[in-house]
Amino acid sequence: MSAPDSIETDLAIRVENAHFEYPAGNVVALSGVNLEVKRGELLGIIGQNGSGKTTLTKLLNRLLKPTSGNVYVNGLLTTNRTVQEMSSHIGYVFQNPNHQLFARTVKDELEFGPRNIGVDESEIDARVADAIEFFGLEPYVEEHPYRVSFPVRKLVGIASVVTMKPSIIILDEPSTGQDHQTTRVINSLMRRLAHDGTTVICVSHDMPLLADVVERVIVMRQTEVVADASPREVFANRELMLTTNLQAPQITEISLATVTKRGGPIALTPQELADDIVSRVTKGGTK
Ligand SMILES: Nc1ncnc2c1ncn2[C@@H]1O[C@H](COP(=O)(O)OP(=O)(O)OP(=O)(O)O)[C@@H](O)[C@H]1O
Ligand SMILES: [Mg+2]
Repeated sequence: MSAPDSIETDLAIRVENAHFEYPAGNVVALSGVNLEVKRGELLGIIGQNGSGKTTLTKLLNRLLKPTSGNVYVNGLLTTNRTVQEMSSHIGYVFQNPNHQLFARTVKDELEFGPRNIGVDESEIDARVADAIEFFGLEPYVEEHPYRVSFPVRKLVGIASVVTMKPSIIILDEPSTGQDHQTTRVINSLMRRLAHDGTTVICVSHDMPLLADVVERVIVMRQTEVVADASPREVFANRELMLTTNLQAPQITEISLATVTKRGGPIALTPQELADDIVSRVTKGGTK
């Protein structure tokens, strides 16, 4: 029986038993993935290299079609739609910006997406001006995207999707190769998008970033989703971290090895650990 072309749903994304095999070399990249993402959710995807994270996100934006199973985005069966059609629903920031950028200047790159989906010119100007300011791109607006440094190019890739204002944004490794300041920009971007009601899916090896911003994490191992929980539950699960070759944020490791041993809460961020230590010192009268 074929899947319905569209479904009534409040979900941004619904993946039903998706399998994917790359024809080149018959590589099985996904086996039986099920996933539901609510509108406005901030979701992290983690997993060791080659576990299938990027492949899963490419099924969502329709760059790939599942070998079997169904993928619905905003209730639409992606298999029956073109990549172009899906691009107005779901914005995709590539792991490698070199696979994404093509315009002659940074400014053109930021304008292209919204113009392509028919946004009017004054609104394009407003969105581009906002993105230039938010991402600190003013010094580069007239540069060729391939002449700016890799970290700046990566920001241009993110900004060029943000200016389209899709209801769902996928960020594949947004902070890889970025310095502390730029990672902070990405952190605040994710918060801002979620605040505005955008569904955000962030694939990352940057555990402190995810620990700080996302509300839910799915963990992939060898083509499958093996856990789906809050970052606190995921990062406190040593067995899970070990069997997926992942490492919890160092703060969480310290918390697990010290404070938590005495029955305290598990810290995810430096602030949480600091608060916990201060409260213990104060309670203990050693202050
Ligand atoms: N174009 C391709 N052709 C053939 N096999 C591929 C292709 N792209 C990925 N693969 C394989 O599919 C599997 C999943 O790859 P994928 O890129 O989805 O993993 P990932 O979790 O995103 O890894 P990373 O953390 O390194 O980005 C791996 O075995 C990978 O080698
Ligand atoms: Mg990847």
